[in-house]
Amino acid sequence: MDAGKRAAARCAVDTYVKDNQALGIGSGSTIVFAVERIAERVKEENLNLFCVPSSFQAQQLITQHKLTLSDLDRNPELDVAIDGADDVDSDLNAIKGGGGCLTQEKIVASCAKQFVIIADDRKDSKQLGDAFKKGIPVEVIPMSYVPVMRKMEKLGLKPVLRMAQAKAGPVVTDNSNFIIDCLFDKVHNWKELNTQLNLIPGVVETGLFVGMAECAIFGKADGTVSKR
Ligand code: 5RP
Repeated sequence: MDAGKRAAARCAVDTYVKDNQALGIGSGSTIVFAVERIAERVKEENLNLFCVPSSFQAQQLITQHKLTLSDLDRNPELDVAIDGADDVDSDLNAIKGGGGCLTQEKIVASCAKQFVIIADDRKDSKQLGDAFKKGIPVEVIPMSYVPVMRKMEKLGLKPVLRMAQAKAGPVVTDNSNFIIDCLFDKVHNWKELNTQLNLIPGVVETGLFVGMAECAIFGKADGTVSKR
């Protein structure tokens, strides 16, 4: 699995990252390989890059690898954002937020001229839901979670409040909110569903990334990649 993630990450960095760019740095396990490769290239080629994190994890990765940490105040326009995904369909729509960082990830991706998804080939789906069975992560304001869940049910979804593993209680995001995972049992019009979810008062953002990706790079265990 790691070989596939590494191959996709390396391909994305070597194809899209150039000198004097502002980069969006995603979250998860695959982005770790991308940051490692960016750091290698900065050393070898003396690149001048500004890295904007999409989460606490991404911020730590950037500083650990001695890359230049920036933010959207200083770099509101990014050249490239690279990030992992939980599921990518044949139209490049994606589900993200398995790690709970979807809101900042979507903000960062939306500021980039090119948003590049990297993943191992298990995430390469025909339809959303083929690879990721945990539904669509949605970040919500804590006091709203019960009415929001009722409204999600009316949209035909099965909402589940995401609970923490290492503490009693719900997962709390980097923005101090909750995550509701919306299970679904049919293919939806994802753009429309994303809009409907975002219109529920209390919803901060959804993990549906519709029409945002420039390309997705999937890595295989043998180190080869396929691009979509
Ligand atoms: C975190 C995310 C991740 O990018 C997504 O869950 C993929 O993670 P990984 O690279 O570990 O497979 O959206 O919120």
